[in-house]
Amino acid sequence: NKTENQMLVIFGASGDLTARKLIPAIFNLYKGKHLPKNFVVLGISRSNLSDEDFRQRVVYDSQYLKDELNGANDAFVKGFADMLYYEDLGDNYDTDYSGLRARIEKLSSAHGTGSNMIYYLSTPPNLYEIIAKNLSDQDLTREENGWKRIIVEKPFGYSLETAKELNDALHKYFEEPQIYRIDHYLGKETVQNLLVTRFANSIFEPLWNRNYIHHVEITNAESVGVEKRGGYYDKSGALRDMFQNHLLQIVSLVVMEPPIGPNAEEIRNEKVKALKSIRIMRDEETLYKNTIRGQYLAADVNGEQVKGYREEDGVDPESTTETYAAIKFFVDNWRWADVPFYVRTAKRMPTKVTEVVIHFKTPHHQIFKDAGFANKDNKLIIRVQPDEGMLMKFGVKVPGQGFKVERANLDFYYSSLTDTHVMTAYERLLLDAMQGDATLYARADEVEAAWEFVDPILDYWANGKEVRTYGYSAGMWGPQNADDLIEGLYMWRNPGKN
Ligand code: BG6
Repeated sequence: NKTENQMLVIFGASGDLTARKLIPAIFNLYKGKHLPKNFVVLGISRSNLSDEDFRQRVVYDSQYLKDELNGANDAFVKGFADMLYYEDLGDNYDTDYSGLRARIEKLSSAHGTGSNMIYYLSTPPNLYEIIAKNLSDQDLTREENGWKRIIVEKPFGYSLETAKELNDALHKYFEEPQIYRIDHYLGKETVQNLLVTRFANSIFEPLWNRNYIHHVEITNAESVGVEKRGGYYDKSGALRDMFQNHLLQIVSLVVMEPPIGPNAEEIRNEKVKALKSIRIMRDEETLYKNTIRGQYLAADVNGEQVKGYREEDGVDPESTTETYAAIKFFVDNWRWADVPFYVRTAKRMPTKVTEVVIHFKTPHHQIFKDAGFANKDNKLIIRVQPDEGMLMKFGVKVPGQGFKVERANLDFYYSSLTDTHVMTAYERLLLDAMQGDATLYARADEVEAAWEFVDPILDYWANGKEVRTYGYSAGMWGPQNADDLIEGLYMWRNPGKN
């Protein structure tokens, strides 16, 4: 794909995300020679910085580029830093952007970047509409001489209603194909590989349905707590922070029907259909039985005394916000009828891991009586992170007399495929937006469909009669009650354990 000359304008340039993710991603694109010939980054925020201060801060002094810069050629690094500029917007994002417009025009003619523009909004979401409006007032959104794209960060809305309001607000100034809603999980190779596993092979898809799949399990565990984001997190919680976006995106890729082709609209049409077929839980009893929330409690984790969630900075000491969420649900369509999905996400787990486990049904007639239960359960485990790869579990005969069955593994690691640089999620997503490919970005109707499912759960957790927040010790696999969600002889697969 061709990357045309363009300018990338980052709003919120003095913030954490710019230094931590965006600048390193752009640096790696520069290193990999993916940037167009004429390219400039203009950082914007309310801090009073010169171009040089900005370069110093996000390049030379940045702890996030330290490793990359170590041993790098000075001229090469300067070549990168010189592409970065900064504009101080003054006290307020809601201001006259004519000065900004003049700066953009000046940089564009000095560097020959033309009129192709990406506006990256790395600000709090309440500024999205304000920024879009002020850009539009200066004619900076008109696509007359070049394209204009806007990238918005998560969280996209706080509820269905606010997500709709945000979509409506952006649609006043940008057409839907100009809007790129980031979900960085879609930038992960292994998440994209779900499409390839399913639709580039003939051995999985024939089994990928209710006839052969017993249940689907998705785990997203983090060992960290809320870190320095207690204030944000306490108003958000695991369901909004991870489940509504990242996990439902993974679910949609597991659930969707084969798209007609690999382009953005066709893939996203199928994802929306998938999300819309998730059965929405509305009555209290169903919500009570199928949703579990928890909060981590202080504990000694590997010799380190870790704070409980309610003791974290910025968190209300009586908070009921969840740091653990486990949800059981069904997908009402021809392919998935009656197959339970179990999805959980949490902080302060024993390890950091994200994986999808497809549990196949046991053979309908067992002739080998001494095959233990675990060995009859064929599993396909898609390791999203870390140790990216896939693991297939199946039974083999134990050598010797009789027919004793034991579990064997077919294990594939991505690391064995390539030793070249694998793009990080932000590199991949930025480059896609620069090339106008929105396949890995969430469309308006997708985001709203995800909120439709999540909204009643949030409402129940906030107002339901019998809702509880279960405590779990930091460093453990979550509250006991979540184990009871899974029926029969099955259990959560706690990676590293079973
Ligand atoms: C972010 C959440 O979207 O994803 C964080 O806001 C979370 O709370 C992070 O830690 C996890 O991302 P990753 O790529 O480390 O799994």
